[in-house]
Amino acid sequence: MTVSDAATRSPVPAKTPADTDTVMVRARQLGKRVSLPSGPLTILEGVDFSIRAGERVAIVGASGSGKSTLLSLLAGLDTPSSGDVELAGTWLAGLDEDGRAKLRGEQVGFVFQAFQLLPSLTALENAMLPLELRGERDARGPAQAILEAVGLGERLNHYPRQLSGGEQQRVALARAFVARPQVLFADEPTGNLDTHTGEAVVNLLFQMNAESGTTLVLVTHDPELAARCDRVLHIDAGRLARSSHADSSRDRPDAVVEGDSSRLPDAGVAGTTSSSASGSKRLSQRMDGRSQQNWRENCGLLAS
Ligand SMILES: Nc1ncnc2c1ncn2[C@@H]1O[C@H](COP(=O)(O)OP(=O)(O)OP(=O)(O)O)[C@@H](O)[C@H]1O
Ligand SMILES: [Mg+2]
Repeated sequence: MTVSDAATRSPVPAKTPADTDTVMVRARQLGKRVSLPSGPLTILEGVDFSIRAGERVAIVGASGSGKSTLLSLLAGLDTPSSGDVELAGTWLAGLDEDGRAKLRGEQVGFVFQAFQLLPSLTALENAMLPLELRGERDARGPAQAILEAVGLGERLNHYPRQLSGGEQQRVALARAFVARPQVLFADEPTGNLDTHTGEAVVNLLFQMNAESGTTLVLVTHDPELAARCDRVLHIDAGRLARSSHADSSRDRPDAVVEGDSSRLPDAGVAGTTSSSASGSKRLSQRMDGRSQQNWRENCGLLAS
């Protein structure tokens, strides 16, 4: 059974595969400047591009060139100094923080370079959170299944401090995958992983793209991952230096192998425990004030 088959009876609603002519992400004359004691610093300037629904795009560039800053702006986690971003049909400048949080909660998955897991929640609870905040009836089943798919079935009840860097990165990926977003932004998703685990994680990303039409925007230093994308955006000292097409033939949807152990799990099949609104309350109550603030600012799923 494929993910799509399972979705028809899954508690997690499947997203309709996106219309590939639709622009999912558009940057228009995007700029970011900060004021430092030493004077103003321009991090990004005049960045213009668009990404179609279902496209797989890599953002590459030297360390410090502005990739993470760009990704945060595209996802509405940070606000630009100039220009604007259109995300899933909405220009972000027209939204306040609550509006951006709502849009992110409904459409966006984000994997941070520094993971941003909530320390007071277990791996399973971290992965459940986006679904619980959406009021999904069964958050535990899909969260457990996706953690098993990234090889963390034996680490469900570990807290972030009890996980290695690569394990924390996989929990962060599971949290971003679990609600099946229209667009997934990931900042160096394989940066902390060994070759084998990195490949499995990348296969999951591309499988989500193939089966659900999820748009992928991936910051990476890995030339192999970049080569698997449809397009590569090269950032150089805060500017878009060029956009090149990559050879992505081996990742076409028909290349997804039935029975591949790295397949996305059938949502909801791995657990039947119902965690309703009371579960959500429980998780929220267990987040201390700083965690809640951190989550709201960085993940944007809680209304303020
Ligand atoms: N809030 C800030 N205040 C001051 N400087 C900042 C701020 N945010 C980013 N920078 C600077 O902007 C530049 C770009 O940072 P960014 O994190 O976007 O780089 P990056 O391309 O993701 O690098 P890496 O590949 O190392 O992750 C860096 O020189 C960084 O020090
Ligand atoms: Mg970065």
